[in-house]
Amino acid sequence: MSVTVSTAARQSVKCDAIIVLIPETERQFGQHEKALTASIPHLTPVFESKDFTGKSLQTALAYCGSAASAPRIILTGLGETQKVTVETLRRAAAAAAKRAAASGCQHIAVEVQTVNGIDAATIAQAIVEGALLSQYAFDKYKTIAPSNGKKVKKLTLITDKAHQKAVTKGADAGWVIVEGVTLARDLANAPNNEIYPVTLARKAQEVGRKSGFKTTVLDKAKIEELKMGGLLGVNQGSTRPPVMIVMEYMKGPKSEKPLVLVGKGVTFDTGGISIKPAAGMSDMKSDMHGAASVIGTMQTIAKLGLKRNVVGIVPATENMPSGSALVPGDIITFMNGKTAEIDNTDAEGRLILADALCYADRYKPSAVIDLATLTGAVVIALGSVTTGMMGTDQKTMSRLRAAAEKTNEYVCELPLHEEYEELISSDYADIKNSGGRSAGSITAALFLKHFVSYPWVHLDIAGTGIQPKAAHYVCKGGSGVGVRLLTEMLRHW
Ligand code: BES
Ligand code: MN
Ligand code: ZN
Repeated sequence: MSVTVSTAARQSVKCDAIIVLIPETERQFGQHEKALTASIPHLTPVFESKDFTGKSLQTALAYCGSAASAPRIILTGLGETQKVTVETLRRAAAAAAKRAAASGCQHIAVEVQTVNGIDAATIAQAIVEGALLSQYAFDKYKTIAPSNGKKVKKLTLITDKAHQKAVTKGADAGWVIVEGVTLARDLANAPNNEIYPVTLARKAQEVGRKSGFKTTVLDKAKIEELKMGGLLGVNQGSTRPPVMIVMEYMKGPKSEKPLVLVGKGVTFDTGGISIKPAAGMSDMKSDMHGAASVIGTMQTIAKLGLKRNVVGIVPATENMPSGSALVPGDIITFMNGKTAEIDNTDAEGRLILADALCYADRYKPSAVIDLATLTGAVVIALGSVTTGMMGTDQKTMSRLRAAAEKTNEYVCELPLHEEYEELISSDYADIKNSGGRSAGSITAALFLKHFVSYPWVHLDIAGTGIQPKAAHYVCKGGSGVGVRLLTEMLRHW
């Protein structure tokens, strides 16, 4: 995939299809109709038919003949002008790219026009994100190309000299963000026989080398030395060793305390001895989506060259049943000396996160945000649309809310009232790892809260990270959620 910016007139851009985004609002629609039919007369019957009205996500394809260098033009609706948002543009670009791909186009050119007061850089970024992310498929294992597998590979943004600089800036940022989201999707969708703890660590090291952050991998011996009983406990049923991946990007002022991002890295979650049902278990190859989001974000901020101090921490292991696995009733001791009774071996994410949250303390962080596919309960509460947000740091939560507004990666806060604590009280240890079905996402977060000593936000992405179906520019399966959200927050801190 590649993105370029051109200041040529729309009819002289060489590509497979020109895309024009058109609002439904009468005045603007009329202006577009007039200008378009004047330069490309082949569009006259399209407009005369009134099939295309500029309704949101509507598309119309016409052939340009000798009127343009491109053989096709695709009109794409934006809906009412006053209602156009950045998300409208992402979705419209996605709809247009899909229509183009279905007609076998590999190179599309989209005209960037300011609409509803949104600046040119933001529009360019949105178009790049929507068009390119819509073309994603985890298809590297397909040796037989599917018949509907044609993809757009090249995107040109058409603008004028006055907006060239802003459009280029937005397109460049969009491109880096798309790469970060794509990395997170690839990691999350990779099966466990490709991405398991050691290969996840290697991948993080490679990404760090290429994009410019330092990666340290703590191996099993080091994890034992640090007495990380949570990570070791979950790992003890597995033949593959655990790792703790630590990524440091320190490009901010020396005096700035780092923001630490922690990502759950369960490369496959069978449930362990409290084993999950067979149906749908393959989704649990994505139980390291939190880790994927953190690695994808580290790559993105490094490539954008943000002047910030950010640390990424990923505890990684499989959760397997075996003769050596944890069993219910076992009591484990974490890095900070606290103990937990295992009530359900399927509540493993909080056990490995507990040690990672203790480890984060070394960085004296300004705040810690963890991302985890932590509970089925959050899927029941918020579905695949909204990420469950909990924590102790209202300021960071406001920042995340503001970033969510822009990226459309919604977050919604759930309460951590003290009254829920009794659900995870244990007769034998400090706490137990499951509070049962009631308030499952909250009790999971309250478990984590026992291990934090700094401002903290927990994002439960079990629903938003593993999508049941594709929509607009978001793919089915591992969605890459979190990369755009965190990057947006960090860019505008
Ligand atoms: N990885 C799962 C949560 C999950 C469920 C993620 C569905 C994505 C989709 C987690 O480890 C888990 O199994 N949680 C249990 C906790 C329970 C045993 C307290 C759950 O939610 O059922
Ligand atoms: Mn589990
Ligand atoms: Zn899990």
